[in-house]
Amino acid sequence: MKTILIAGGNSGIGLQAARELLDHGHRLVLLGRDPGKGEAALASFGAAADRASFLAADLSTHDGVREAARRVLDQHDRIDALVHTTGVFTFQESRTADGLHPFFAVNYLSRYHLTQLLLPALRQAERPVVLMMTAAIPPTDEMDFARFPEFSPFALSRDRKPIQLANHHYAAHLTRTEPGLGAGVVNAGSAKTDIMRIAPWYMRAAMKVLGPLVLDSVETSARNVVEAVRHDDWHSTPTYWGKPGRYEQRTPITLDTTTTQHLMDTSRKLTGA
Ligand SMILES: NC(=O)c1ccc[n+]([C@@H]2O[C@H](COP(=O)([O-])OP(=O)(O)OC[C@H]3O[C@@H](n4cnc5c(N)ncnc54)[C@H](OP(=O)(O)O)[C@@H]3O)[C@@H](O)[C@H]2O)c1
Repeated sequence: MKTILIAGGNSGIGLQAARELLDHGHRLVLLGRDPGKGEAALASFGAAADRASFLAADLSTHDGVREAARRVLDQHDRIDALVHTTGVFTFQESRTADGLHPFFAVNYLSRYHLTQLLLPALRQAERPVVLMMTAAIPPTDEMDFARFPEFSPFALSRDRKPIQLANHHYAAHLTRTEPGLGAGVVNAGSAKTDIMRIAPWYMRAAMKVLGPLVLDSVETSARNVVEAVRHDDWHSTPTYWGKPGRYEQRTPITLDTTTTQHLMDTSRKLTGA
């Protein structure tokens, strides 16, 4: 039985992945901000709920991530898989307590920070896995990181790609530096979840109309995460799954190592981890 931590597991695609991994007999730890959604998730698991737990945490701040990691490590010596499905979708110019944009803090930096703090428990697993969910962002070196990490003023259309591509760089870094650890990035596709809840009204309205025509099911969006946790045939190469529901269609992540090192140095300076 594997112990699998899903950050963002109280909702949407992370919750669907949690359900399926419970069906495969594993133990699940869910992290999320909203305790009500966490309790509802556990209640929906029926008899399998005795193999699941929920920890409420705000992962948008350094302190929130540190507190979450401390509580996880208090309860678990070994983590076999760490899955990051936390995410916010926002156009607004706002800043966290650490002065960072929430899109950057939640959709990239918290993943780096939490993983770094949980490495001692991941190293206890025979074949540890770290997976990060993003939108469709193929691994490419043609990305400008000049605005990293301030992204000020924030513009979603310009900044969302480099922020999400930082996940691919982190996957490459982990594979290079942590022997035996499999690290990858999974495209969520377009699934009808809560992710648009703070998007402008016209985008929510458009999704309501177009949604049934263009959306993936949450089952399809969760499938590559579930399969990547269950199999270790891909671990030697950092991997990107670009097609929801198509586990066999994967792309090796090969990126400029100097850029990766620059992003990792900056992430370390920001978080201390
Ligand atoms: N659905 C799509 O079409 C789509 C498209 C592109 C990318 N994605 C990515 O796919 C992943 C899964 O999203 P989803 O569609 O399943 O949406 P979702 O249902 O809104 O899930 C997002 C999760 O992130 C958690 N979260 C957000 N801010 C947090 C914070 N500060 N601290 C702790 N947890 C926080 C939420 O917890 P609370 O609810 O408790 O706040 C929730 O569990 C995300 O990374 C998202 O960016 C989704």
